[in-house]
Amino acid sequence: MYTLPELPYDKKVFDPIISEEGFDYHHGKHHNAYVNNLNNLIKDTEWSEKALEEIIVESLHQQNTGLFNNAAQHFNHTFYWKCLSPNGGGTPSGAIAELIVREFGSFEKFRDQFSDTATKLFGSGWAWLVLNEENKLEIEPLKDAHTPLTSNKKPLLTLDVWEHAYYIDHRNQRPKFIEGFWEIVNWDFANRNLARNE
Ligand SMILES: [Fe+2]
Repeated sequence: MYTLPELPYDKKVFDPIISEEGFDYHHGKHHNAYVNNLNNLIKDTEWSEKALEEIIVESLHQQNTGLFNNAAQHFNHTFYWKCLSPNGGGTPSGAIAELIVREFGSFEKFRDQFSDTATKLFGSGWAWLVLNEENKLEIEPLKDAHTPLTSNKKPLLTLDVWEHAYYIDHRNQRPKFIEGFWEIVNWDFANRNLARNE
């Protein structure tokens, strides 16, 4: 049985970029629904013996779309909450900063490219920063519930650009929400992901 993870901060802390009501819906209703659906789909099946990552990879392979969507959305949202921090924002430091400058020329160029990708992603999806198998950074727009886990890429950061991520606080203005992301992005989490050996 999966459970909705607690948010690693107070729901009021990012207002007005994300308000308490925004979290009540996004975390309390949308993420919660994915967790409940996932539990109902795996109950009394062989899937309940598997780890979440295995469910994601295998359900995609088997074209079990309902299970894939809910399992991947549970993973993606759990990861996304950690990409935000009350001590976040500003320019990165450490290994992620070095990689960004090496591969994009400057932090500003990277930020503009990531924002542009997130803005132009048509419909629902996620803007990811990943490390590929050649140890290079990639900005990857993925539709719907898709996740870098199924292509052997290491997720470093993500931004949820489903409308449900911003409609409470920004109505239809996705670019305004994306601008706010840079004030709260958790670079420590990105550095910890980069350091993970798997
Ligand atoms: Fe979401």
